[in-house]
Parts: sequence; C-alpha cells; structure tokens
Amino acid sequence: MKAIIVKESRELALIDLPEPVPGPGQALVDVKAIGVGYVDVMAVRGGYVRFPGTGAVPGLEVVGRVRAVGRDVSEDLIGTEALALAAFGGYAEQIVAGADRLLPTPSGADPVDLVALGVNALVAEGALHRTGVVAGDRALVRGAGGGIGVLATQIARARGAEVTVVTSSRERGERLRALGAAKVFDRTGAGLPDETYDLIVDTVGGPQLPEYLELPRPNGRYILIGGVGGSPGPEPFAPLLREFHKSVTFFTFSLNSLSPKDLRRSWDRVMTLSVEGDLSPVLDESFPLSDAATALRRVERATPFGKVVLLPH
Ligand SMILES: NC(=O)c1ccc[n+]([C@@H]2O[C@H](COP(=O)([O-])OP(=O)(O)OC[C@H]3O[C@@H](n4cnc5c(N)ncnc54)[C@H](OP(=O)(O)O)[C@@H]3O)[C@@H](O)[C@H]2O)c1
Repeated sequence: MKAIIVKESRELALIDLPEPVPGPGQALVDVKAIGVGYVDVMAVRGGYVRFPGTGAVPGLEVVGRVRAVGRDVSEDLIGTEALALAAFGGYAEQIVAGADRLLPTPSGADPVDLVALGVNALVAEGALHRTGVVAGDRALVRGAGGGIGVLATQIARARGAEVTVVTSSRERGERLRALGAAKVFDRTGAGLPDETYDLIVDTVGGPQLPEYLELPRPNGRYILIGGVGGSPGPEPFAPLLREFHKSVTFFTFSLNSLSPKDLRRSWDRVMTLSVEGDLSPVLDESFPLSDAATALRRVERATPFGKVVLLPH
C-alpha cells in the first residue's frame, strides 16, 4: 500500500509499505478520506510526544470501509463504513485501528464530509457537552475559523447559545456568521472582546490565555482544548485566583480521555446534529495523499477555514 512517512529531515515521503495485518481486537480499514489537523503538524515537526518519529506514518483519523478483522472482533463489522480513530498511521491506503475506535457512519454518506466532521466534531461536541452548554448561554469561541472552531460555533448555536467568535479577518467573520455566529471579534486588532461570557471554548491558548481568563462571567466555564497559539507562559491562571469570587470553572479536554463508550455517545450526538441539519461539515480543501506536504503546510500556516482532507485515490 502507499503511505506517507516522516523522514529524518522531517520532510514527508510517499513510499510503498506492506499492508498492515489486524491483530486481536483490531480491524483493517480501506481508507477513503483522511483528516489533516494541527496535531499532525506537531507530530511531523517533532512537537508531539505520542508520535513515534522518523519512519512513522502520521494521521489520526480516516473514514473508510472495514475489509478484515482480527481475533475477538465480530465479522459483522466487515463491509461496514466507519470513522476510524488511530494512534497515527492514517496517511495511508489502509490502516489498522482498534475495533473499539471505529465509529459507524451512515451508509452512502460522503467520506469527505464525514472526515471533515471526524475528530474535530468529537472535540467540539465533547467540550460543549462537558461544560454543559445551555440555551441562553453567551458563548465565545477562540480559533473559530479552524477545523474545530467552525464546528464548535455551530454546535454551541444549535444548543441555543449566543455565539461570539474570535477570528482573523472580516471574510472569515462573515463565513462564521453564516454558520450561526451572532458577533465577530477580529483578533488582528488590539484588545479583547468587550463582553463577558458564560462559556469560553478555546482552541488557541498562547500568551493571551491569561487575558481571556478574565472574560468568564460569575459561575462561567472556560474549556481549553488546543494550543495553536503556543505556550501561555508562566502563571496563566493568576486571573482565576485573583477573581476567586466569580467561581469560574476551568476545564481541559482531550479526546484521549474519553472511554470507547463515551466516544460512541459523542459521535451519535454529532450524527444526530448532522442529520437534523444543525451541523454541517466545513471543507477547506482536499489534496491527493501524495501532496500531504502541501496539505500540512496549509494547516501549519493557519490559513484553512474548516478541515483539510487527503484522498488516497
Ligand atoms: N483536545 C483534543 O482532543 C484535540 C484534538 C485534536 C486537536 N486538538 C487541538 O486543537 C487545536 C485546534 O485544532 P484545529 O484543527 O482546529 O486547528 P486549525 O484548523 O489550525 O485552527 C486553529 C485556528 O486558530 C486560529 N489561530 C491560529 N493561530 C493562532 C494564533 N497564534 N493566535 C490566535 N489564533 C490563532 C486560526 O483561526 P482564526 O484565524 O479564525 O482565528 C486557526 O484557523 C490544536 O492545538 C490541536 O492540536 C485538540
């Protein structure tokens, strides 16, 4: 099979690899669409400790069809389509994933649409579920034009929140309004949004984290789900301690902490939102697998609006 590996120089190369064999508890999936995310950038550039490094195949999520299963896995899975979550290995024509990390997809649905939801929808939905978003909440989304942000904006809106988005251009702001944002704050100017919020969903972190930690209302919730802005520096939590009386709850959220059962529940909620028309995938651009380096650079430069996807065929 064709697969992309990371070379010692940190460049990517398309090579032939033997087809993987599913072990006990695993399934072999023929890949139809591959999700590209900021985690892949970190993995390839050497900033993600869970990635094995040189010679390994990046890619955490694919949509495809199950071709074979290993021991202790029901053969009923063969021929079904699923979103497969893996600990890397996704930039390939085939992937082996744990059967408990296969999330069923509706037959006939477009694999590109499904992978454009994929991990990003699970993170956005999982984060909003954990913080208990309710109708009438005033919510703020940072990194709103990114893969996770465009979905968090829609889901918060679908749950009845009034959503303000932080983004980097008028054009991105308009696109986010079309996805349900009520207000837009342009982060390329000075200052911060001049309101306070019941709920802040932050995919950015970075040096401005302490300033954003000033924005929750009393009893507000702040959930940090990513770090595209880099390190928040020393003592980012000083505002929470200084404003102890506000009883703000700070969460971190990683999909890695969800049990297979909770992953499945979250995916079911994502599929329901999608079927009911409350959540649409947002595709930035798709590239052939052989062009993975271009796709990755696009994510690295923070230019995509929505999801970047690779196609093995
Ligand atoms: N918690 C989890 O389980 C989980 C899972 C997957 C990924 N992640 C993480 O979530 C984060 C976001 O992922 P993603 O795929 O949505 O990334 P993405 O598509 O690259 O989007 C990030 C967005 O953040 C904004 N941004 C970029 N650099 C910024 C900066 N320096 N300061 C302020 N805003 C900036 C940009 O949006 P605007 O221009 O619109 O502002 C950009 O589109 C990453 O750190 C990723 O590793 C977490």
